[in-house]
Amino acid sequence: MSIVCFPFKEEDVSVVVRNVECAASHPRVAAVLCVGYSQGETWHAIENAKPRIEKATGKDVILLLQKRIGVALRGGKGDGMNTALSYFLEHSDYPRLHFYDADIVSFSEKWISKAESQADLDYDVVRHYFPRSSTDAMITWLVTKLGFAILWPNTVLPSIEQPLGGEFLVTRKAAEVLFADQRVCSQSDWGIDTLYTFVIAQNGLRMAEVYIPEGKVHSLYGGLRDLRTMLVECFSAIQSLKNEVVSGEDFGHCIEFPKAVPELLKQKVGYDIEKSLKLLRSHWTPRQQELLHQHFDSALVKGLMNACDWPCWGFADEEAWAGAYLKFLDNFEKGDTDWEELLFKVWVARVLNHTLRHVIRGYDVALGSLRDLVWDTRQRFGMKLKADALAVHPIVISGH
Ligand code: DGY
Repeated sequence: MSIVCFPFKEEDVSVVVRNVECAASHPRVAAVLCVGYSQGETWHAIENAKPRIEKATGKDVILLLQKRIGVALRGGKGDGMNTALSYFLEHSDYPRLHFYDADIVSFSEKWISKAESQADLDYDVVRHYFPRSSTDAMITWLVTKLGFAILWPNTVLPSIEQPLGGEFLVTRKAAEVLFADQRVCSQSDWGIDTLYTFVIAQNGLRMAEVYIPEGKVHSLYGGLRDLRTMLVECFSAIQSLKNEVVSGEDFGHCIEFPKAVPELLKQKVGYDIEKSLKLLRSHWTPRQQELLHQHFDSALVKGLMNACDWPCWGFADEEAWAGAYLKFLDNFEKGDTDWEELLFKVWVARVLNHTLRHVIRGYDVALGSLRDLVWDTRQRFGMKLKADALAVHPIVISGH
């Protein structure tokens, strides 16, 4: 029997309580663990509902305040998830641990059943994936999946559907691997999803991905500025791993086929475009301009400088972003506000370019362009790795 964890901050309390009850009612679930960022309204709502849910289902509902596990970085989602991992490892009565974001309106017992049935096939990790709006997942596509394709093109990493997803199951073996890793424990912020995904791949754990066709209905964002901290923390997590080696061996990765994407989701716009257009003009400093001129290609510099006066985005195409990404990998400094703002601005320009060049031509074109970006980058950097390896160990043809 498994334990289900919902890390939470302040959420729509009726959604959270309903999800806790739904998980507790599942026949494969023995307990529900709610890990709170703070003891606010959501905490008290769960506390009030706890006796009723425990009585109705006969299962335990455990409320825990997240611990400060990684002390060097901002305390956030990473501490919450690692608090759940450590609780799970201290309580040997549950063989599997599920994680779900607490705010999922479309959560149902099916999410648990699908993960459980793949774990029955001895996968160490089962991840959920689902269709997302063509303007959503802009960190997933442009930062995480692209970074995986650049740095580890010949591994499982670029083909993981939603590497930042907070919905997955781990077995005890996988939880032990994760919690024993110092890099995981210190990643207390938004970078945690990157670290979990990376460490699972680096340790060759067997992974299945299950598809949830109705998608994850949850609250979307205002302007892109709402995603700034997440962007910086997710990029910095990738950057911290850039010298790591991952084997290209296939340890077992299987992905359930996706289904047709619901029309409503295809029409959804993930962020406020008008509000975001202004972002390229604001918060400039002389040092940002200096860094820009010092490190980046002249076409990107020119484009961003033009965007100070009037919104423009044509310059921030796929190639410009991939080029800038490499420069950020080498030079970006987390905690330096000018570097952070520069990363944010170039990413905003890329998101606007994606939206106004591809998304306006329809959902399928937009998703196709994102998939092509990852696939083509994987090819390009895979070939580069091969050429570099040949240069170090040239093939000697006998007789010559
Ligand atoms: C992502 O990119 O996946 C983030 O959730 C923002 O949408």
